[in-house]
Amino acid sequence: MAFDVARVRALYPALGEGFVHFDGAGGTQTAAPVIEAVAGAMRAATGNRSTAFAPGRRALELVAGARAAVADLLGADPSGVVLGPSATALTYTLARTLGAAWRPGDEVVVSRLDHDANVRPWVQAAEAAGATVRWAEFDPDTAELPAGQYADLVTDRTRLVAVTAGSNATGTAPDVAAIAKTAHAAGALVCVDGVHSVPHGPTDLASLGADFLVTSAYKWSGPHLAAMVADPARWESLRPAKLIPSADAVPDRFEYGTPSFPLLAGVTAAVDHLASLDPAAGGDRRERVRAGLAAAQAHEEAVFDRLLAGLAARSFVTVYGAPARRCPTVSFRVAGQAPARTAAALGEAGICLSSGDYYAYEYFRAMGLRDSGGAVRASVYHYNTVDEVDRLLAELDRLAGTEGTMVR
Ligand SMILES: Cc1ncc(COP(=O)(O)O)c(C=O)c1O
Repeated sequence: MAFDVARVRALYPALGEGFVHFDGAGGTQTAAPVIEAVAGAMRAATGNRSTAFAPGRRALELVAGARAAVADLLGADPSGVVLGPSATALTYTLARTLGAAWRPGDEVVVSRLDHDANVRPWVQAAEAAGATVRWAEFDPDTAELPAGQYADLVTDRTRLVAVTAGSNATGTAPDVAAIAKTAHAAGALVCVDGVHSVPHGPTDLASLGADFLVTSAYKWSGPHLAAMVADPARWESLRPAKLIPSADAVPDRFEYGTPSFPLLAGVTAAVDHLASLDPAAGGDRRERVRAGLAAAQAHEEAVFDRLLAGLAARSFVTVYGAPARRCPTVSFRVAGQAPARTAAALGEAGICLSSGDYYAYEYFRAMGLRDSGGAVRASVYHYNTVDEVDRLLAELDRLAGTEGTMVR
């Protein structure tokens, strides 16, 4: 069934302001049911978690609801869903916890394609333990992260391999399953950054081969909260630093302080929203969320193809990378223009794109682009349209002062 983008756009109140949002990679607009769920939870009588009184039980239900929703989104067990304020915070918690058991001579493998949130926590935990860091390199022309190199990078001393399922700079979707297979054959754990990939297609923890997978709800129409999932038995085997009186059960053991209960209601509503994107889909929420994201993916790919073709047709645009498997995200520069200037000029025209390194620090450093301002990033989400792509391309033409050819 065709993706009804007009119906979907009507679900995002913020789109009424008229901006063109090509910065889903930095955070999407919030879906109306999410806003209503958060407001509803704030309006209702609440308390801290307690079985003694109804508002306290409501708080417990909001936590359980968010765990169940994230589990359906990722194909995980609700008891293995750790909730937290951000992917960065959750990855630091995991890195400190795992790193406490590392010894000099142990090794961790990180990649130069990853967002720094799945690099620096591991590098710093390795440094603290005296462990060695090994780097997976990307191909500078294609921005692919060849899975074959992991056969050399992973040894019997490797404790952890950290890799992205989708680059927030080039869109590259590495062959995580192949990388995980190599890691597991050597007895290493695999932490996958799904922050950029999860909004753009169905995700399955088991088929990725991830021991740990992290996602952030604000990249898929939800609030600024994140989750890290793993097999509950894996969490059971780990002891994070924690307060003495706080819950010692899994997954609560890994969560710090009192969560934002209303925002957890928003996480659940965001997953329900994704599950509604294909109105023809049936089955349980896991099946519907997969169908919804598959429908969104097909739409995003059509919009993104037009964008890529349009950028390629303009000689004044340099596009970085051409990965075969990718999320609908691309980094580029306009000739003779600092990326920040391009982004600011587009912003003046109401077209929202990020510029800089967007924390893909190692990628831009290795490309030699970081010190001169990184790049401009266009990222397509399911509410974007081909008309918006044409607006962006026309504005780029105007900026470049050329008569560039619109791709029709
Ligand atoms: C690929 C990727 N990983 C990790 C992060 C960090 O996520 P958070 O802001 O939830 O810490 C981001 C944020 O932009 C990202 O794009």
